[in-house]
Amino acid sequence: MKSADVEKGVPFNRPYLGRAELAYASAALASAHRQGAGPFTARCHTWLEDTTGCAKALLTSSCTAALEMAALLLGIKPGDEVVMPSYTFVSTANAFVLRGAIPVFVDIDPRTQNLDPARVAAAITKRTKAIVPVHYAGVGCDMDAIMAIAEQHGLYVVEDAAQGLMATYKGRALGSIGHLGTISFHDTKNTSCGEGGALLIRDKALIERALVLWEKGTDRQKMLRGEVDKYTWVDVGSSFLPSDITAAILLGQLEEAAATAEDRRRTWMLYHDAFEEAEREGIVVRPSVPAECRHNGHLYYLLLPSAAARDAFIARLRQRGIGTPFHYVPLHSSPAGRRFGRVHGPMRATLRAGACLVRLPLWRGMTAEDVETVIREGLAVLAELGGRVAPHIPPAARRGTPAAALTAGS
Ligand SMILES: Cc1ncc(COP(=O)(O)O)c(C=O)c1O
Repeated sequence: MKSADVEKGVPFNRPYLGRAELAYASAALASAHRQGAGPFTARCHTWLEDTTGCAKALLTSSCTAALEMAALLLGIKPGDEVVMPSYTFVSTANAFVLRGAIPVFVDIDPRTQNLDPARVAAAITKRTKAIVPVHYAGVGCDMDAIMAIAEQHGLYVVEDAAQGLMATYKGRALGSIGHLGTISFHDTKNTSCGEGGALLIRDKALIERALVLWEKGTDRQKMLRGEVDKYTWVDVGSSFLPSDITAAILLGQLEEAAATAEDRRRTWMLYHDAFEEAEREGIVVRPSVPAECRHNGHLYYLLLPSAAARDAFIARLRQRGIGTPFHYVPLHSSPAGRRFGRVHGPMRATLRAGACLVRLPLWRGMTAEDVETVIREGLAVLAELGGRVAPHIPPAARRGTPAAALTAGS
């Protein structure tokens, strides 16, 4: 049942429709080139290369497909190990499992929910081939530390920047710092075309083979450049490229990506201010953004003191028509994660995020009233729960240390 003063609900997500998408999609539909690698695809590539500074961008049908391309491109083989967080989406691991590799799950930093470099370093073996940092919530991982570990051991770094478009680490675009980066344009992301993604390539030595994998294992791109007169099967590959109709929709979204991030960052900040006191009182822990990171307003989360409090928060806000879902179920605890992967080290922060994290509604175009409704009802539910669920927050957190060491389920 809705509370009397919540007139309308607030969904967790509402994909944004900008000014140009319909016109661009009509033009693509009316054109003779609707298949992949057409003029709209080329414009998206240029936009991504100019905006992120990567050497080459390739649109893919999803971030999942971009991760699968990355695993193929790096020649990942059965028995290879790939170090990654457990607190991530299944595709981060699946792309490498498809090549027979073993995901080695390590813990995250409890302040950012991002891969903890010290845990990565401890998990390296002679079978390690790559590290996959996931930039959770569009906040950059500690890329200097991760790149230093990779360099020391001769490893590849694939940034899972599914949530990272328009966010930076030390001024560099997420996804353009490792050898490869992957972006998602799924409907839940800031910039979306329904389903879509991109592979960003920084390492120029990987570009030529990436073009072959992208075009079903053929040298068709060489033919288009006039370097061969007919194209043929030269390597493994798949149909990774989206149609030019999808690219047309995406181009409209990309052209508004900066405004989208601005709009979302404003809402993010309103939430951050509104829940400051609740954090001081030890009722929630808010996200922490390192000084060297500029986030893109992709996601606002709160960490509740226990799984029971988190589940009650979600249920009570759902009754008020407000969508506040939890996020990842840690991969190492899932049936496939247990079957295909292994864990290195403790998983305290991962378990806490899996059990205690909720996401608040955040999308471009939320009205002031929408935001106020979420804040008012969110604070009201926290007050209700405060009476029932005693938070176990160490004194350091009460003094304002963000994301202090709460334990999962405590
Ligand atoms: C961290 C991460 N990686 C990969 C993906 C997969 O993205 P897509 O749905 O575009 O395949 C997601 C999806 O939400 C994600 O959150």
